Amino acid sequence: MCGIVGYIGDEEAVELLLNGLEKLEYRGYDSAGVAIYDGKELKVSKTKGRLKALRHMLGNGEKMNGTVGIGHTRWATHGKPSDENSHPHTSASRKFAVVHNGIIGNYLSIKELLTNLGKEFSSETDTEVIAQLLEHYDNGNTLETVIRVLKDLEGSYAIGIINKDNPHEIVAARKDNPLIVGVGKDENFIASDVNAIVSRTKDIMRLEDGEIAVIKSNKVVVYDMDKNIIKKNIQRVNWDISAAGKNNYSHFMLKEIMEQPKAVHDTLFPRLKKGEIVLEDDINLSKEYLEKINKIFIVGCGSAYHAGCVGKYIFEKLLKKPVEVDIASEFRYRNPIVDENSLVIAISQSGETADTLAAIRRSKQLGARVLSIVNVVGSSIAVESDDVFYTWAGPEIAVATTKAYSAQLVAIYLLSIYAANKLEKISRIAYTRYVDELFFLPKKMQKVLNLTDKIRKFSEKKYLLESVFFMGRNLDYAVSMEGSLKFKEISYVHAEAYAAGELKHGTISLIENGTLVVAVATQRSVTDKMANNIEEVKARGAQILGISTDSCLDLRKICDFSFSVPDTHDILQPSLSIIPLQLFSYFVAMLRGCDIDKPRNLAKSVTIE
Ligand code: F6R
Repeated sequence: MCGIVGYIGDEEAVELLLNGLEKLEYRGYDSAGVAIYDGKELKVSKTKGRLKALRHMLGNGEKMNGTVGIGHTRWATHGKPSDENSHPHTSASRKFAVVHNGIIGNYLSIKELLTNLGKEFSSETDTEVIAQLLEHYDNGNTLETVIRVLKDLEGSYAIGIINKDNPHEIVAARKDNPLIVGVGKDENFIASDVNAIVSRTKDIMRLEDGEIAVIKSNKVVVYDMDKNIIKKNIQRVNWDISAAGKNNYSHFMLKEIMEQPKAVHDTLFPRLKKGEIVLEDDINLSKEYLEKINKIFIVGCGSAYHAGCVGKYIFEKLLKKPVEVDIASEFRYRNPIVDENSLVIAISQSGETADTLAAIRRSKQLGARVLSIVNVVGSSIAVESDDVFYTWAGPEIAVATTKAYSAQLVAIYLLSIYAANKLEKISRIAYTRYVDELFFLPKKMQKVLNLTDKIRKFSEKKYLLESVFFMGRNLDYAVSMEGSLKFKEISYVHAEAYAAGELKHGTISLIENGTLVVAVATQRSVTDKMANNIEEVKARGAQILGISTDSCLDLRKICDFSFSVPDTHDILQPSLSIIPLQLFSYFVAMLRGCDIDKPRNLAKSVTIE
């Protein structure tokens, strides 16, 4: 949602903060700011707009001096993007500066209380109440003052605080929002995620809810809310710095699309041993436990939900158990019939999505076992789940997910085939065939990526369109939903996905001469039905872009344009058919001049409701 970074050490802080913020800009990008202790007072520079506007203001780091500072890149929640609403926020006397990610639910009542006491506020944000409360409760000891303030706050937060009168420390705390401490040699950091600091240190401490870290340049001490010291482990992150860079690609999104065979390979191959799927290193899914499961729920948001939709079809087909897939923000506020025999699978790239986190908490309250499929190690969803299946897609920077989605599909394949084999719901021959096909998946994905130039040329003909429909049946419908989301979120062109058989129940009235309909048709059991649906929309003037398999020649013949992907097992086909849709979305957005990696109004990690 927002990005936080902080530095304390011997070097000039401002450049380090700006570099860190650059790596966090994908989390929010409507304003940015830094606060530095310059030896006498707290200096704050902040501005509406992208980080480059802040850099410009700061004369590329030359106008602020000091070796302690905090920085922030914002995605507005309370108060529009403006200079005043940008972080850091300071207390009235500028004694405290605060950066914050999250939402303070009771900020209005705190604001009213402080206003009645004569405090003046200069922003519309919830964050400013934290800065003002710090000054209100200040007793000269920053740790004690922060604890006192935290006791008044309701909602979620990751915060970094500097205090002019205690300038050799940064105090940081979190609740329901990620925050890590980076431990260096004679320098330490705070950050919303590893990206921001990995070029300086790979040793990190993950703060948990209710923990407060007091960070000096040569020491980090973590306390609980009763001021007891908590012993924390330092984790070494296995993170390739180049993975978080754009290398020579024009956008992170294109780089990440191209990295999909590797993301799939890295997620798949450590779990394929001698022709068997081995998940015992990750999770314990015994036969007895699998037999006990009476229902599977899959929850997630956006693309993670779409990966879940693929999962529903596959789990039901292979395990013959009922599966419900739900958008996490719906699941948490309805009355799902979840009990101790339910398995809840939560899917999330970031592992921090607030609604998904709430959905797993609710499932656990109801007695279910929660297995999460997560890309970020040690993230909140991973920590709170009973079991974690990590996808090894590496850092994903573009707001629109591609490689993490592909890795989520692999997790679904592995889990479903593994469980079906354990429960003897599939024959040994079928199991071996699935495993063999999985083995070839990265290579087949690479083959689809070889279509890039053709897809770019096709996009050049079509990028001025005003609306696109995506349709498919079964797994192809699930892929259509993801294709449609990808398309609209980065190109800002209206797009809708429909189950192909459903169009004629209303939506077909929107089809007119020249409307582009993308027909995803890879599932053999419904190829004939798809052919009928294609004819139906063609008869109303639609132009058809077909996405089918190499063997599906007849279907391609009835399409105006088509791209074919290699044949694989039906259940694995989504991994191949999604790629042309991602590339089409990317090129249309590029030709329309959109800000592909940072689409308007969107943030990578949605840590608020
Ligand atoms: C779309 C996209 C989002 C995310 C969603 C969930 O391209 O990236 O729809 O999939 O916000 O995020 P995670 O997976 O981090 O829980």
